[in-house]
Amino acid sequence: MKVVTLPDAAAIATAAADVVCACLASHPRVAIGLPTGRTPVALYAELVRRHRDEGVSFRGMIPVQLDELVGVPLDDARSFRAFLRRELLDHVDVAEACEVGFDGALDLAILGIGLNGHIAFNEPGSEATSRIRVVALEASTRDELRAAFAPAEAPREALTVGIADLLDSRRVVLLATGAHKASIVARALGGAVEASCPASFLQLHLGVTVLLDASAASGLGSLA
Ligand code: GLP
Repeated sequence: MKVVTLPDAAAIATAAADVVCACLASHPRVAIGLPTGRTPVALYAELVRRHRDEGVSFRGMIPVQLDELVGVPLDDARSFRAFLRRELLDHVDVAEACEVGFDGALDLAILGIGLNGHIAFNEPGSEATSRIRVVALEASTRDELRAAFAPAEAPREALTVGIADLLDSRRVVLLATGAHKASIVARALGGAVEASCPASFLQLHLGVTVLLDASAASGLGSLA
């Protein structure tokens, strides 16, 4: 696991975009796992800029959505699909359809991390052997969704690729920014490898790069 601390979210977006562009250049067709959440927004904006200004093509990308809320129609603006369209897919020359999950190993998985240690929507309790499935969302995760949903309507379940699907990925880039992520990042990277912190399973993968800002790295001591 390579842990890199960068000055700010813009530098993380640039470094992550470099990884995505190298992946796109490595093979005519590459399956790239795409997360939602606030963290990858700057990365997607940088990829759209590179497409527009530098001619980076996404025709060879198989866009793989890592997770989706159950019960939210794909054309609802609050669906994760709509988010990916809005932030990235509608603005680049992607040719392949976007689906949740992928029948094969991803070439690259881009990940954020939830405050409870989830990656994609593998909530605590998710095992290293887990595959794509529907999971129940923790109360704290549902609380985060309540900003977008009426209190009673916050989704209770999500479809997510599994930990094994992510560990099968040839390469993984985990992004985290902000002081609120510091303690879970420290636990995921330096704590026990266990299902109570699903992101800790990334310690088992040799091809993981973690891109952090100084705030998110502040709990790591000498690791970063
Ligand atoms: C979400 C997603 C994850 C994401 C995480 C962190 O709900 N299911 O894929 O990585 O929560 O989100 P954020 O980047 O907004 O902190």
